[in-house]
Amino acid sequence: MRILVTGGAGFIGSNYIRLLLGTGGDERVVNLDLLTYAGNLENLAGCEGDPRYRFVRGDIRDRALVRGLLAAEGIDAVVHFAAESHVDRSVEGPEIFVSTNVLGTEMLLEEARAAGVARFVMVSTDEVYGSLGETGLFTEDTPLAPNSPYAASKAAADLLCRAFHHTWGFPVMTTRCSNNYGAYQFPEKLIPLMIANALADKPLPVYGDGRNVRDWLWVEDHCRAVDLVLRRGAPGRVYNIGGCNELANIDLVTLLVDRLGRSRDLITFVADRPGHDRRYAIDASRIMAELGWAPSVTFAEGLARTVDWYLANRAWWETICSGAYRDYYARMYGSRGAAGTTPGDGP
Ligand code: NAD
Ligand code: DAU
Repeated sequence: MRILVTGGAGFIGSNYIRLLLGTGGDERVVNLDLLTYAGNLENLAGCEGDPRYRFVRGDIRDRALVRGLLAAEGIDAVVHFAAESHVDRSVEGPEIFVSTNVLGTEMLLEEARAAGVARFVMVSTDEVYGSLGETGLFTEDTPLAPNSPYAASKAAADLLCRAFHHTWGFPVMTTRCSNNYGAYQFPEKLIPLMIANALADKPLPVYGDGRNVRDWLWVEDHCRAVDLVLRRGAPGRVYNIGGCNELANIDLVTLLVDRLGRSRDLITFVADRPGHDRRYAIDASRIMAELGWAPSVTFAEGLARTVDWYLANRAWWETICSGAYRDYYARMYGSRGAAGTTPGDGP
């Protein structure tokens, strides 16, 4: 297969490209990424010299570029990760989320269809379902009820995929995954942010009462699921992916602090995220039964590997934390009432 991966310089996309190249097959992998604040070629160190791999800096909204790339590379499969991915940023400024996530996906679908792409995986999210109460799980039949601008933009993209399949029989498979964690996650997201702050003995800003629940999945298990869907998923079908691992934020942050040997006094409750979804939990029985997928590591194991990775790769996240991210952090967390220091700052 000749695979176009969009957003391959981000957190999940870079883990996915490493998985593809690591299998030792002869597949061609073209990575189209705009390198926004979230894209980082250091995430792919070691892949550059691989003759099966090519990086193209560009925008999924650039029609001429996408069309040329699909034709020149003879692409027959697309795995679409590229997106604006952070809920808090979508509350601060929704427009780029509509532009990238909705219009970008629509354009990619049009060009992929015109080029005769045979398999297209849309990496959607469980956030399209909205929020759960105390009980129950999201199934693929749960009605979509997105609550944040981010989730609404992903739901629009997800439904465009449905429409392309329904209208033209375009072979698109959609995955809806829960919260990922692991190596190379940008430090704006909960787990890496808490690790970076804890290591610098900075306050750990927990939103609201800290009882919001997320279902955590190790990123490499997500990547294996996406790959299975690419190869064996049924066109037009949606697949939930989840870790069967629900945890309240406060319990997760406490686990991290203890593992890092820091004081629990660092935990600081701050103003809640506007419209904060209370609970996500995934029923992943379809992908388990139909494609034989299951998570390969326990949460304890995955979290240990993740913490070890951030300890061993301080330069990676310290560089990020010392750049433009400082302004974002001061703006976002200053307004929430958290201390204005940037994660990774020395004591
Ligand atoms: P990320 O923010 O780490 O990476 C996004 C990547 O997309 C970056 O490399 C960025 O440069 C690139 N990008 C952004 N706009 C682009 C554009 N216009 N053209 C080309 N490239 C562009 O995100 P992530 O956490 O790796 O998430 C990847 C995908 O998975 C997203 O679609 C997200 O909605 C979905 N998802 C994420 C999670 C999670 O827990 N992180 C869970 C479920 C689904
Ligand atoms: O569920 C899948 C989604 O998971 C993906 O679609 C998104 O791209 C991804 O960013 C993630 O969204 P969340 O909003 O759940 O992830 P985040 O890491 O931002 O927050 C996780 C939880 O932790 C959430 O309940 C908010 C809370 N939180 C987050 C941050 C950054 C805090 O309490 N404090 C924080 O500083």
